[in-house]
Amino acid sequence: NTIYLKDYTPPTWLVDTVDLHVAIHQGHAEVRARLACRRNPQGAGGTLVLNGEALALQAVSLDGDALAPARYTVADDTLSIMGEDAGPLPDAFLLETVVRIEPDSNTQLSGLYRSKDGYFSQCEAQGFRRITFFPDRPDVMARFTCTIEAERERFPQLLSNGNRVASGTCEHDASRHWARWEDPFPKPAYLFALVAASLDMLEDEFVTRSGRTVRLAVYVEPGKLDQCGHAMAALKKAMRWDEERFGLEMDLDHYMIAAVSDFNMGAMENKGLNIFNTKYVLARPDTATDGDYQAIDRVVAHEYFHNWTGNRVTCRDWFQLSLKEGLTVFRDQEFGADTHSRAVTRIQEVRALRVGQFPEDAGPMAHPVRPASYAEINNFYTATVYNKGAEVVRMIHTLIGREAFRQGMDLYFQRHDGQAVTCEDFVAAMQDAAGVDLTQFRRWYARAGTPRLKAEGAWDAASRRYTLTLTQSLAATAYEQRLADAGMPIVEGPLHFPVALGLVLPDGTDAPLRLAGETAPQGTTRVLSLTAATQTFVFEDIPAAPVASLLRDFSAPVQLDFEQTDAELAHLMAHDTDAFNRWEAGQRLATRVLLAGIAAGGEGDAWIPADFVAACGRVLDAGLTDAPALTAEALVLPAEQVLAEAMAGRGEIIDPEAIHRARVNLRRHLATQLRERFEAVWTALAPSEPYAPDGAQVGRRALRNLCLGYLAESDDATLRAAVLPRLLAQSGQRGNMTDVIAALATLANLDLPERETALAAFHAHWQGEALVVDKWLQVQATSRLPGTVARVRELMQHPAFDLKNPNKVYALVRSFCAANPRHFHAADGSGYALAADVIIELQAINPQVASRLARSFDRWRQFDAVRQGHARAALDRIRACENLAKDVAEVVGNALK
Ligand code: ARG
Ligand code: ZN
Repeated sequence: NTIYLKDYTPPTWLVDTVDLHVAIHQGHAEVRARLACRRNPQGAGGTLVLNGEALALQAVSLDGDALAPARYTVADDTLSIMGEDAGPLPDAFLLETVVRIEPDSNTQLSGLYRSKDGYFSQCEAQGFRRITFFPDRPDVMARFTCTIEAERERFPQLLSNGNRVASGTCEHDASRHWARWEDPFPKPAYLFALVAASLDMLEDEFVTRSGRTVRLAVYVEPGKLDQCGHAMAALKKAMRWDEERFGLEMDLDHYMIAAVSDFNMGAMENKGLNIFNTKYVLARPDTATDGDYQAIDRVVAHEYFHNWTGNRVTCRDWFQLSLKEGLTVFRDQEFGADTHSRAVTRIQEVRALRVGQFPEDAGPMAHPVRPASYAEINNFYTATVYNKGAEVVRMIHTLIGREAFRQGMDLYFQRHDGQAVTCEDFVAAMQDAAGVDLTQFRRWYARAGTPRLKAEGAWDAASRRYTLTLTQSLAATAYEQRLADAGMPIVEGPLHFPVALGLVLPDGTDAPLRLAGETAPQGTTRVLSLTAATQTFVFEDIPAAPVASLLRDFSAPVQLDFEQTDAELAHLMAHDTDAFNRWEAGQRLATRVLLAGIAAGGEGDAWIPADFVAACGRVLDAGLTDAPALTAEALVLPAEQVLAEAMAGRGEIIDPEAIHRARVNLRRHLATQLRERFEAVWTALAPSEPYAPDGAQVGRRALRNLCLGYLAESDDATLRAAVLPRLLAQSGQRGNMTDVIAALATLANLDLPERETALAAFHAHWQGEALVVDKWLQVQATSRLPGTVARVRELMQHPAFDLKNPNKVYALVRSFCAANPRHFHAADGSGYALAADVIIELQAINPQVASRLARSFDRWRQFDAVRQGHARAALDRIRACENLAKDVAEVVGNALK
């Protein structure tokens, strides 16, 4: 049941228009679909095969006549329509079907489903086939009209894509009403959306730069209107930004966002009717953190940007998913960089890449940005397709420059507006606009794995030359093994990528960079274009031994192997003009210190060099004058998962206990050694104005709460006397969730009776606010305390938990599996057993969410034999599950291969 990219063929039939009629009744819905079908001149012809899943066919007719049973067959997930007497079908015809569906029992949350008292749809990737029979593939684009009919009282809002063109009361039943929507743009079925619910609406409008007024609406659960202002503001910011940066305007008269509390992913870009997880809409200072506010900005922008990169130009097939996702993530990253801090945004993206994507590339599910095969497409909405995909787009941007990139975008839309295309088409537009050969660059789309970049530099005093030798390598991954097993070709050869670099002189300034053969220096940061396995670059006229600052702004998603001394790293930390690399130097230094500590077992603090503490002290000293947000980022030690990958990368067995111990001990040591300074910064940053999620305040809060977190690592006496009262006060205030949750998360790590009191008070106050309850679950799931596995099990029985609600599963179980490595990888196997129990129960309810959880086992082979034994037992138990969902089967199958 594997599907291969190489097997792609154009659709045999096209659908020009779809006229849907959806009647929502108690316990079921009836869907009538009228499809204007036409033979594809490019297709092979023959039978018309429609996809359908969990549909009860009531009637089928062709050009108005009920079809004789001999002319159609209903098989597993398809409906096939044949010509008369086994002859050909007419070249064009109207096909009408009537099906019954059961949205109330649709726990997969794909297709049409019930959430609380409303009905919502999710069609990407293959949910439309769970609503009606259809050739459900993105290269079939049709113009849709949709009439929705339901009880007026319970479902006052009836929404679909495009414009509402008519509405009224049902003739046969005055308690029911209907509304008809018409979407003027042809679209693939995955962009179809439908909402029937009772919702409050926040309305606004936006005037495009060409003067068209667009009506904007955010629909939320009744009573939540005071939580949607930020999402609306984000939408307007994003609309303006896309006009300014890419010349792209809104093309509809209406743009709606509907929020739903049961949703598998973040949000969905359905044409003109985005459907959002409430998590990325609702925010109020007392309920949402700075992180939540920023995530809302980004996701609202992301879905809006899809209107061009995804909807106007869509994907030919699902292998091309990164065509829209990688590009749209790049666009939302740039939006974030332009509206918040560019450096902080970049740091956070790279951190996410290292925590989420690098391990994926090193594990059993490794795949390139464009995979060549899949069993279940929902398993490929991954960090690789999204985040590495964005890095690939960013590399094109870096290689050809901002202006050429913009011209490439213009050309892409000129060529492909209204089409379903491939990643190849995107690169071709960039290449043609820039006049840069990107042939070799295309390998990024076909290769899995994180390349390594080895650098060696030498300065020669006599010739004043700095010689830099760069060597790239990329080992085969599990993906290449899967290709080989399937007898498929493997793409080989070096990759093409930009290496941005500077040479920092002893006085802290950047050397002007003149490459051998050039007559004059060209700036102090150069982008080298690396294409060969090994390349040497010679810089002339370098007056003193420089410290090389490589991969500025993280110019390529690679692992850098570059030997630099502690002193050199400290020099970069202090002087690099590239803010990202200042941070990076600190991370490399911290990683080195921690890995040495881990190798020594992680106990005590004898392994901690005084120089490192001093360097952190200097960062902290500059904290109030430098951007506080950057200071805060600089003092976050590398995550346990990143340290684990660093061990695995050196061929060592991951020791989650030693990693955790070393990291906590280093934090504690820094806290004791730098206590006065943490105190001083904490005091100086006391808030003086009412909450706003703006850059300046966000940075100050981040640094202040970082200080508080460190201070809480102090010994028992200091903690009780000085820090605990602050934690309790801060976690007990009710106006600013950023501060509250920072304090509560810290308290959740402390084995004190006050912990329980604070958690209980928090829950008592917020039990009616679902997204805040999620935070309560999350801080407990990620706690360091012994007994966390048992606590998570207990919380699964708590009335606040609901296995059917993805946000609850993510907050409690995924947080535990993905963000609490030390307890998930507990030596007694209890973490693995917990995950397996949940996955087994959940896969029958919601395979997509279960499959995401199953990815927690990706790195199981990197642990010791005892842990491996427990992990294998858990995986075997999942695999033995009866009727195992194919989503989970693919993930577990690969893990056990
Ligand atoms: N296209 C959505 C986005 O903006 C993601 C939806 C994916 N849904 C799914 N069930 N796989 O990224
Ligand atoms: Zn997207």
